[in-house]
Amino acid sequence: MSYDVVVIGSGPGGYVCAIKAAQLGLKTAVVEKRATFGGTCLNVGCIPSKALLHASEVFAHTMHGLDELGVEVAAPKLNLEKMLAHKDATVKSNVDGVQFLFKKNKIDTFHGTGKVLGEGKVAVTDEKGDQSIIQTKNVVIATGSDVAGIPGLDIDIDEKVIVSSTGAIALEKVPEKMVVVGGGVIGLELGSVWSRLGAKVTVVEFLDKILGPMDGDVSKQFQRMLAKQGIEFQLSAKVTGVEKTDKGAKVTYEPVAGGDATVLDADVVLVATGRKPFTEGLGLHEAGVVLDDRGRVEIGNHFQTSVQGVYAIGDVVKGPMLAHKAEDEGVALAEMLAGQAGHVNYDVIPSVVYTQPEVASVGKTEEELKAAGIAYKAGKFPFTANGRARAMLATDGFVKVLADKETDKVLGVHIVGLGAGEMIHEAAVLMEFGGSSEDLGRTCHAHPTMSEAVKEAALATFFKPIHM
Ligand code: NAI
Repeated sequence: MSYDVVVIGSGPGGYVCAIKAAQLGLKTAVVEKRATFGGTCLNVGCIPSKALLHASEVFAHTMHGLDELGVEVAAPKLNLEKMLAHKDATVKSNVDGVQFLFKKNKIDTFHGTGKVLGEGKVAVTDEKGDQSIIQTKNVVIATGSDVAGIPGLDIDIDEKVIVSSTGAIALEKVPEKMVVVGGGVIGLELGSVWSRLGAKVTVVEFLDKILGPMDGDVSKQFQRMLAKQGIEFQLSAKVTGVEKTDKGAKVTYEPVAGGDATVLDADVVLVATGRKPFTEGLGLHEAGVVLDDRGRVEIGNHFQTSVQGVYAIGDVVKGPMLAHKAEDEGVALAEMLAGQAGHVNYDVIPSVVYTQPEVASVGKTEEELKAAGIAYKAGKFPFTANGRARAMLATDGFVKVLADKETDKVLGVHIVGLGAGEMIHEAAVLMEFGGSSEDLGRTCHAHPTMSEAVKEAALATFFKPIHM
């Protein structure tokens, strides 16, 4: 068995890299230790969580949002088993889709744990312990990430009472009380799911804001919206203990500034305090592949590790832990391995939180621009002034455009609102082409659409909005 490229890991980074490499004529194989392809994202992450986010949103909307539109229905009844079955069916169709694409592109697959044996060799150990050796010109490490837990705390994540995102998408009943440790993306998305289905959710967050890296304006308004939906927040609070009890679990936290500890009882605790690169069992140390001080595979330009012919992409290397960043790296690397020029523009990687409303952002935040000493101007437009939003009773939120003060080049766009995750892409395309807020503001937008708020925020950046 001899290949041009062997990819270890079939998540969005790995499977996209393999498909692109095969499309470019490279003989390609994928090594995967899970029974199904698609990695964390398709099996237990992005895809199943979106199935539950959609279904729980429909449930909550039917419960609270139809009356004002003149649609009278009896109170909806939750069939959690069916909702979970919808999630499982969604996962199955997606992971089967990857298998189909592997076949279509003539990519060989090996089920088992891959180990890098230095330049040109990968060992695969299957479930029975049998080992095979694959020869390859290039190895791509795309092994993703795993739950980080809370540094210094030994937490028994049993995925029933104390859960990570994996357990939180498979709870067999709606908890009465749920404590979420960490007000980041996972905590807010999955906290929202169970809150909509009836759980009393409390989020305990170390920082003084939720969604730490997001624009401060966005994070503040978004927190108010989630609080209106019934989610409680304890900010500037450091969790110092998560333990099981006879009745469920308890979470202990202290004010970050110092002070007395508080104990919260819960039926379920979701630990969502970040993820760490997954490098276990890969034999990287023996192979001479160097990790950085945060346990990530160190790469230079062109995703090259410290060992010739061994590359790494996605969550296992530096940069945001996002499926689409991994995919773009996979494509760029495959192009480079095929002798073409591959490129990822790290300044234009959108980020979306799939709550209701959604939060979406691309480029720099105001805080980042201030810290970098870049002179900028900001334009903001609220959905309360958008006709389509009013018609849909979706006036929560706003669009904010940040542009260079001198050149007017758009440096960042931040949206909170219904469909923000779709709207953000016009900003991403504009930024990819180095566009200005005037370019965006002079681009004809269909009326009536939510996207007109993006145009108006751009108008507000270089001159004045029309509808405000
Ligand atoms: P995160 O890094 O987004 O948030 C973790 C939060 O936990 C931080 O705000 C941190 O301050 C807090 N924290 C840490 N230790 C704490 C303690 N002892 N007490 C209280 N709070 C504490 O991590 P998260 O939400 O687990 O997500 C992991 C990764 O997965 C992220 O990189 C995220 O971007 C990615 N992801 C992205 C999604 C999306 O794009 N929609 C969806 C889900 C995950």
